Amino acid sequence: MGKSFVIALDGPAASGKGTLAQLLAREYDLAYLDTGSLYRGVAYALLAAGKDPADEEAAAEAAANFSLDQIEGADIRTREVGAAASKVAAMPRVRKALLDFQRRFAANPPGGKRGAVLDGRDIGTVVCPDADLKFFVVASPEVRARRRFLELKAQKPDLTEADVYQDLAERDARDAARADAPMAQAADAELLDTTRLTIEAAFAAARRVVDGVFRRCEG
Ligand code: CDP
Repeated sequence: MGKSFVIALDGPAASGKGTLAQLLAREYDLAYLDTGSLYRGVAYALLAAGKDPADEEAAAEAAANFSLDQIEGADIRTREVGAAASKVAAMPRVRKALLDFQRRFAANPPGGKRGAVLDGRDIGTVVCPDADLKFFVVASPEVRARRRFLELKAQKPDLTEADVYQDLAERDARDAARADAPMAQAADAELLDTTRLTIEAAFAAARRVVDGVFRRCEG
């Protein structure tokens, strides 16, 4: 089998990268890994055990023992888990423990797929710097807060859009400022601004970029 074809999508919270990554994985028959779910999973495990997400020792241990089946069926998409995830994600020991899994997934995608799509914050810069294609997906803070608010409000009727805006701003600032693998656009990443794009339009724009590279690699 040839080398795995890897697409990296990075960007701030609720920029649309996860949706795009899933659509691209389906379109090009690639495996998909939401790397944020790993950090959320570690945070969830800590919170569920009644531990403080700022406790480095406990977070490092949870990351070392983490496996995806631990979070099967768990609600890891809540505000609380998101906030705790960005705290544990700033800890080098946590990042190190999760790095191998992500690299192995990219190099040997499950299900015999010929490649993988990974979305996160540091995929194009740290996890897969040699990815075949990289996107940095952004949108205005207002639009991102609106999207995430609409996703979360069904389970949390008392949530306000201002709360969500605040959460995202804090999380983005923490993700961009940390010393270890901060959120950053790789020099060779395509910038995709989804502020004014529907999902369909963003997907079409991404597909135009992927098509050229993917078909060339296939041929
Ligand atoms: O879906 P959303 O964009 O809100 O966040 P996520 O992708 O689920 O990531 C949750 C948190 O995990 C982020 O705020 C980051 O702190 C961290 N993360 C990271 O540090 N590196 C990654 N490759 C992915 C997520």
